[in-house]
Amino acid sequence: MNILVTGSRGQLGNELQLLAPSLPEHHFTFTTATELDITDPSAIETAIKQFRPDCIINCAAYTQVDRAEDDETMARLVNHRAVEYLATAAAAHDILLLHISTDYVFGGVGNTPFKEDACPAPLGIYARTKLDGESAVRSSGCRHLILRTAWLYSVFGNNFVKTMRRLMRERRQINVVFDQVGSPTYAHDLASTILLILNHPNLADHLGTYHYTNEGVCSWFDFATAIAELSGLSDKCSVLPCHSDEFPSKAQRPPYSVLDKTSIRTTFDLHIPHWRESLERCIRKLDASE
Ligand SMILES: NC(=O)c1ccc[n+]([C@@H]2O[C@H](COP(=O)([O-])OP(=O)(O)OC[C@H]3O[C@@H](n4cnc5c(N)ncnc54)[C@H](OP(=O)(O)O)[C@@H]3O)[C@@H](O)[C@H]2O)c1
Repeated sequence: MNILVTGSRGQLGNELQLLAPSLPEHHFTFTTATELDITDPSAIETAIKQFRPDCIINCAAYTQVDRAEDDETMARLVNHRAVEYLATAAAAHDILLLHISTDYVFGGVGNTPFKEDACPAPLGIYARTKLDGESAVRSSGCRHLILRTAWLYSVFGNNFVKTMRRLMRERRQINVVFDQVGSPTYAHDLASTILLILNHPNLADHLGTYHYTNEGVCSWFDFATAIAELSGLSDKCSVLPCHSDEFPSKAQRPPYSVLDKTSIRTTFDLHIPHWRESLERCIRKLDASE
């Protein structure tokens, strides 16, 4: 398969680039925002003519959740309109589009994991534009997979794990919210899963929307505590629980955004690692690279 990847400088894009050499049967073209700006429909057409992809993996997104509250135009352009351009082009050229979305499409009311068909209730601009991007993919008529994921981290880019490790080295004590609950996801595991799914012999029969995160559930406080323990920083810095209202942020976040993964697990016969096991792998890599 010829696979075109957008947004390849991001966390997920970088993890896919690491794994691509293990799949010599596929030919990957990785494009950064400069090489392929997905907000430009003519650039999408040119890339399709040049690379003739059978599949596009869209890792590009406007992911700054708080900044989006003051920058709706750009968030909407990247997360909604550009996804519509990609989906329209994918439909016209019969290309499979694998698009990534977010747990934040749900409002977080409840305490049981959200299934794929649960009613969305986005709380902020980022979440609304991502939900509209999903709708654009579905209504374009292109063959597609939409994977909703959550709380992504990786050795690449900026993320909660790297920020916490930095703060834990700088401070004696940090406060982290315990009233937002979800499932952390190692972008490396998501990237492996994407490649496994694309290799599925009956993929054409299993298109649609799926949820993928690591197994298990925790609060940001639990996550930070595990980061401290696994990084050997528990003695240097205390992690204390606090409420979200002690950390006012521009965008409202769902208090509970756990995704039900039954469908992806059973359809593609996946083993999904527990978040703590994956965190340990990521931290070992970070330790080795620092
Ligand atoms: N991060 C999370 O916690 C999280 C949670 C749930 C779902 N997701 C979803 O998972 C996917 C991957 O997230 P991630 O964490 O890997 O994101 P990321 O690290 O922020 O990477 C996004 C990439 O998109 C690129 N990009 C932005 N505008 C673009 C444009 N107009 N054309 C082409 N590329 C553009 C960025 O380029 P530059 O590098 O040049 O800025 C960046 O490299 C996204 O769809 C995101 O919404 C993420």
